[in-house]
Amino acid sequence: MAQVFNFVERFSQVSDTSVAGKSASEMTAQARGIDPLTTAAIINGTDKYGYHDYTPNYFRVLKHLRDRPLRLLEIGVGGYSDEDRGGESLAVWRDFFPMAQVTGLDIQKKTLPLGPRVHIVQGSQVDAEFLASVEAARGPFDVILDDGSHRNEHVVETFRLLFPGLVPGGIYLIEDVQTSFFPRFGGSLELTQPNSVGLFAQAMTQLSGDRDGIFDDVASIERFHNMIVIHKSPASGARRNLDASPHLLRAGEGIGDRPVKVALVGGAKLPAAFAGRDVEIIQPDWSAEWGQGPLAGLDLIVAELDTPKRSKKSSRSAGGAKVGEDTLRSLIGALRTDGGVLVVTATDPARDLAADSPVMQFAQQRFIEVDHREMRVHFPDVAIDELATQIHTIERTPDALLFVKAPNDWPSNFGYDARNPQAAEALANIRAVLAHSDVEGGLVQLLQIENRFGTPEDTRALEEKLGSMGATARRYFEHAVAQAQRRHDQARVGALLTRALENYPADPGFSAGMARHLIAERRQEDAMRVLKEGLAKTPSHRVLNQLMSKVLVAQGDIEAALPFAREAAARTPRDQRPPLQARYAKMLTQVGKWAEAERYAARAVDVTPNNDELLAALEYVRTRKPDLQ
Ligand SMILES: C[S@@+](CC[C@H](N)C(=O)[O-])C[C@H]1O[C@@H](n2cnc3c(N)ncnc32)[C@H](O)[C@@H]1O
Repeated sequence: MAQVFNFVERFSQVSDTSVAGKSASEMTAQARGIDPLTTAAIINGTDKYGYHDYTPNYFRVLKHLRDRPLRLLEIGVGGYSDEDRGGESLAVWRDFFPMAQVTGLDIQKKTLPLGPRVHIVQGSQVDAEFLASVEAARGPFDVILDDGSHRNEHVVETFRLLFPGLVPGGIYLIEDVQTSFFPRFGGSLELTQPNSVGLFAQAMTQLSGDRDGIFDDVASIERFHNMIVIHKSPASGARRNLDASPHLLRAGEGIGDRPVKVALVGGAKLPAAFAGRDVEIIQPDWSAEWGQGPLAGLDLIVAELDTPKRSKKSSRSAGGAKVGEDTLRSLIGALRTDGGVLVVTATDPARDLAADSPVMQFAQQRFIEVDHREMRVHFPDVAIDELATQIHTIERTPDALLFVKAPNDWPSNFGYDARNPQAAEALANIRAVLAHSDVEGGLVQLLQIENRFGTPEDTRALEEKLGSMGATARRYFEHAVAQAQRRHDQARVGALLTRALENYPADPGFSAGMARHLIAERRQEDAMRVLKEGLAKTPSHRVLNQLMSKVLVAQGDIEAALPFAREAAARTPRDQRPPLQARYAKMLTQVGKWAEAERYAARAVDVTPNNDELLAALEYVRTRKPDLQ
C-alpha cells in the first residue's frame, strides 16, 4: 500500500496537462491517448479496465466533476469475505477525484488502509435503514455506483432506495448489468421483473411521457456495454440538454483537421456544441440514398421528427410515426463506424418519441442488445441483431435520443477472450503503462493477466520485480507460492509463506499452505503449531481441519483427530463429501466407537443414498460391529 500512496501524492500534485512531475506511467498513458481515469484504474489494478471497458465510459460521464469536492458512494468494495482484500476501485476514485470524499459499502467487513478521504461501511445494499444511516452520515451523494451483489432484485431495490436521496444533478451508475441475462443473478432472456436492463430499457422509452414515480426526477439515461447511467434532474422539472452531451461531441473526435460532416434532416438544427466549428452541412431528405456518396461515413446526423402540421409545410419533413426501423437503420448505416453520432429529436417528443413509437421500440431493443456478448454466454442461440456490435452508446433525454456508432464487442470477464482486438489493445495499454511503474496494485493485477495470457518469461520477470520491490499484496504471495510449488522449490515456498503469514496472519489459505509445506518437510510438530494458530482464527476452515486430522492420524492419535475429521467433512461441498464421511466412520471404528460409527454412516446414506463409498462404509461397520461378531 505504501507504493499506492506514493502514486497518490504524485498524481494529485500534478495537473492533467503538465508533463513535469508526471510519473513515467502517466506520461506513457498520455502519449497513448489513455484518459486519466483509465490510467488510475491501470495503476491501482482494478478490473474496471481490461477485463471490463468501464473506465473510458466513466471518464466521459464524470470528467467535468473531477475537481469538485463531491461525495461518492460505491456499493461493493471487492475482495468478498477477505477483510483485507479489495478496495482497488475506491483507490481509483480517491485518486481521480482529489477533492472527493469516497464511501465504500460492502456486506463484508473491510479493513483497508486507503487514506483519510476513503471511508468504508459494512451493511447490505438492500437494508433500507442502514442505507438511510449511511446517507445521513456520509451523504448526500453526488455520485452513486452500484457494483455490489449484481443480483437483479438488489440492483432494482437499491436504485429505488438511493436514487431519491441523490443530489439534484447527481449521477447514478450501475455496473455489470449483463447479469440481467444470467439466471444465477435472477436474470433471464425475457427480462422477467425485477430486472435491471428490462427496467431501465422501459424507463428510457417513457422519458417524454408519463413515468413511473421514481423516474420523475430522471434527466437522462445512458447505456454502455454492461452498464447503465442515470442522471438526476438538476432541479424539479429541469431537463437535460443533449447539446451538453459528451457523447454528441464524439462526432467530432479523431477526425483530424477536416470539417465535421453533418447531415441535418427534417428541419433539424446544428447542435450548439458545433457552432463555430469547421462543419460541412448537408440537408438530405428522409428518403435520400443514405450510405451512398456524400451520405456515407458521416460524423453526425441530426434528424428531427416532425408533427403532421409542420410536415405539410415542408417536403423535407416526416411525421414521427412514419419514421420507423428501416429509416433509423439507414441513418445509422450512413455514420462513420468509429464514433459517428445519430441524434433523433422531435418537435413533439411526447408523440414522436412516445414509448410505443417505432423509434422508441427500435431504441428499446438496441438498449437490450448492447450486452449481446453476455446474452450469448447463457443463451448461445439467442437471435441478436447485427447492429448490436456497432451501437456503443445510447443516450436518452426527454426530447432526444442519441446513438454512438462505434465498436461494441469488448468481451467482459464473462466469456473473456484476450484475442479480441479491443481486449488485446487494452492489455497492450496496461502493459505499456505499467512498464515503468512501481505501484503494487496495478503490477499485481498485471501479474495475473500475464499469468493467463503472457509468456512464462514475462510472468517470471514481473514476479521477480514485485519480489525485489518487497511486494506484500496477498495476490502476489498467492501467485509466487503457486509458482514455487510448481517448481518444487521448497525453500522458496517456505520463505514466501513465512512472509505471507507475517503480513496476513489470519489467512487460512496461507496457514494451510505452510502446514502442507511443513508436512512435506516432515516437520509434523511445526505443522501442528501452524494449524493450531490457524484454527484458532478460523475454526471452521475445511482444509485446516482436514490437515489437522491428517497430522494427528499420522501421529497415531486418532481420538484427537476425530473432531477435525468430522468438521472437515461437514464443511466439504455435498457432492465431494462422501469419501470424507466414509473415512470418518472408519476412524470411529478404529477407536471402538462402533455405535456412533453406525449412526453416522446410516445418516450419511440417508442424505446421499446410492453412494458406493458410503454404502461400503455402512456395510463395513454393520458386519464388523462387535455385538454381531
Ligand atoms: C464485484 S465486487 C466489487 C469490486 C469493486 N467495486 C472493484 O471494482 O474493485 C462485489 C462486492 O459486493 C459485495 N456484496 C455482495 N452482496 C452485497 C450486498 N447485498 N450488499 C453490499 N455488498 C455486497 C461483495 O462482498 C463484494 O466485495
